[in-house]
Amino acid sequence: MTPTWLNHFNKDVFDINPNLGASPQDAPPNSLLNTKLPFEDGLKARQEIKSWNNYHASTLWDLDELSHELGVSQVWLKDESSRFGLGSFKALGGAYAVYYVLSKLIFESTGEKDVTSTRMRSGEFGEILNNVTVVTATDGNHGKSVAWGAEHFGCKCKIYLHAEVSQMREKAISAYGCDIVRIEGNYDDSVRHADKDAQNNGWYVVSDTSYEGYREVPSVVMQGYTTIAAEVAEQISDLHPTHLFLPGGVGGIAAAVSSEISRIWGKSRPKTIIVEPKQADCLYQSSLSGKPTVSSGNLQTVMACLSAGEVSILAWEILEKTANFFLRLSDSTIGPAMKRLSAKNIVSGESGAATLAAFAAICSDEKTKQLTGIDENSRILLISTEGATDPYIYKKLVGKDAEEIITSHPK
Ligand SMILES: Cc1ncc(COP(=O)(O)O)c(C=O)c1O
Repeated sequence: MTPTWLNHFNKDVFDINPNLGASPQDAPPNSLLNTKLPFEDGLKARQEIKSWNNYHASTLWDLDELSHELGVSQVWLKDESSRFGLGSFKALGGAYAVYYVLSKLIFESTGEKDVTSTRMRSGEFGEILNNVTVVTATDGNHGKSVAWGAEHFGCKCKIYLHAEVSQMREKAISAYGCDIVRIEGNYDDSVRHADKDAQNNGWYVVSDTSYEGYREVPSVVMQGYTTIAAEVAEQISDLHPTHLFLPGGVGGIAAAVSSEISRIWGKSRPKTIIVEPKQADCLYQSSLSGKPTVSSGNLQTVMACLSAGEVSILAWEILEKTANFFLRLSDSTIGPAMKRLSAKNIVSGESGAATLAAFAAICSDEKTKQLTGIDENSRILLISTEGATDPYIYKKLVGKDAEEIITSHPK
């Protein structure tokens, strides 16, 4: 009998596009790309991040029951809900990029290279750092990570929020002592606004999205994200996954994880499926046109952190080679996927649960299963990128507070 949560999934809740430009599976990973790769400096990022207080590898759950329900051999879920207590994987990118920007500025002033974050935190470079302001636009989680990094490493911070970012998310960000700037318009407007104000005021933009003339910092953010892939490779030493599901906002996490996984596992790397909301489908649209293309929808989606209208150009240059499929999903699938994970005692937020929802959507349609090669022998790796980053919305969709769900032992 079909479990009731799967009644929410059918071929009408998603669209999928095979990426004909993807590199063939037997291409050596280093020939995949013609751009500077996040993994070239990823090791340095990972070493720095591992030195931070409370670093530990995020949990990889092996979800037996879900693999039976969805008719595959194995389902793993990488659970980013507790990274550094920030509730999402974003802690790895934005905060690391703040560290990178500050260490460069210290180098310019003192000639000291690669100053450790411990020394930054000691106040030794207070005279330099107190005069630095980092700034970014955000849907929520990236801004929280940048604000947390600024507070930790000792500089000032301004976070730009667009009209749709919830009050709960604003409150969570401002807890780290930054200034919040609310702007009219959507995420892409907030990116432009932050960039213009930074230029006028001598602030440093620490954005996770790359646009014309702005590539260095987003590439550093992605170096931080490669930590997820490196941890997975240590956690799965045996049979590798056959399919990897990654969420897409501007494409940063998907590009970083897919390229690092390709580097580590080479020809035995999984087929990669990028998941976006139907209303914010810039990567899907880019895959249709073969070049960076804006979203076709109005960006209003329950998957709040995936609400991006324009791709990161750096991420796109990687994904056009590493992604095998681009999938866009209806909002109606998210609540059921979040609830299903909560029943396993896993807290996964609206954007976090998108990967399970996409996997369940594919499994609801025999033709798409064949297209993606998902069958009873498949081993599926889902990345759940956040926990209850907006507790109010979480409770509305799941019917319970996140605190009621014990995350330490899935059933
Ligand atoms: C929880 C969560 N998942 C996924 C994403 C998408 O990441 P990217 O914009 O790098 O594609 C974000 C971005 O903010 C996020 O906060």
